[in-house]
Amino acid sequence: MAPVAASDWGFAQSYALDGWEVHATTRTPGDPGALGEIAGNVSIHGLEVRDQAQISALSEVFEGRGLDVLIHSAGVLRGVTRDEMRAINADAPFDVVEALMPAVLRGRDRKIVILSSQMGARNGGRTPSADYGASKCLLNDRFRDLGPHWRSDGVCAVVFHPGWVSSDMGGASAPVSVTESVSGMRQVIDGLEARSSGKFLTWKGTEHPW
Ligand SMILES: NC(=O)c1ccc[n+]([C@@H]2O[C@H](COP(=O)([O-])OP(=O)(O)OC[C@H]3O[C@@H](n4cnc5c(N)ncnc54)[C@H](OP(=O)(O)O)[C@@H]3O)[C@@H](O)[C@H]2O)c1
Repeated sequence: MAPVAASDWGFAQSYALDGWEVHATTRTPGDPGALGEIAGNVSIHGLEVRDQAQISALSEVFEGRGLDVLIHSAGVLRGVTRDEMRAINADAPFDVVEALMPAVLRGRDRKIVILSSQMGARNGGRTPSADYGASKCLLNDRFRDLGPHWRSDGVCAVVFHPGWVSSDMGGASAPVSVTESVSGMRQVIDGLEARSSGKFLTWKGTEHPW
């Protein structure tokens, strides 16, 4: 049935090319940019991930329907306050998942993927001091709290470090292209099984330390 690629062109294109019904989100649905150029069965929805009304409106799209793979990619590295970064990177993924969970439970695959970062790992047990790393660390902590509950409901959920990717965030000098990163994560997502649930994985499928 339907995967959601929350604000990520690469995932939307990859699933659309494989013939999936894709529901992609952006804050600017009237001016979707590259998302709007993807060929295939792609619907575009407006979503500011801090806006509960927009999250509810998105969940209504799936009223009575199944959502096979939910991918939450939205994140921010700079240009916002510490509180805004925390709201976008660490709070919003769980608000979106909570609202869409009934649709995921109706889905065939029951997979949830959230993009985190290696910056959210505690090297040597220390919480990162920079806002971005601290927000991704909080995301990882919450995932570790909630993941087991999702798993007991039959959902397979993972968080990813997507690599250092040459997106707007990663910049042109990043060594991994969006296509390479997404293709690596797609292989992992396609093969996900219940025993993988709760893991922090790299785009190459290896486990990342927390
Ligand atoms: N690029 C890297 O090297 C790298 C490394 C580690 C982790 N990550 C993580 O991977 C994920 C994707 O990053 P990226 O490289 O694709 O970043 P990007 O090029 O900066 O794109 C960020 C995406 O997040 C969406 N977004 C940002 N704030 C939002 C908000 N308040 N509400 C809804 N959507 C919002 C944007 O959607 P619209 O502008 O379309 O609304 C945009 O598509 C992020 O979670 C990031 O932290 C990236």
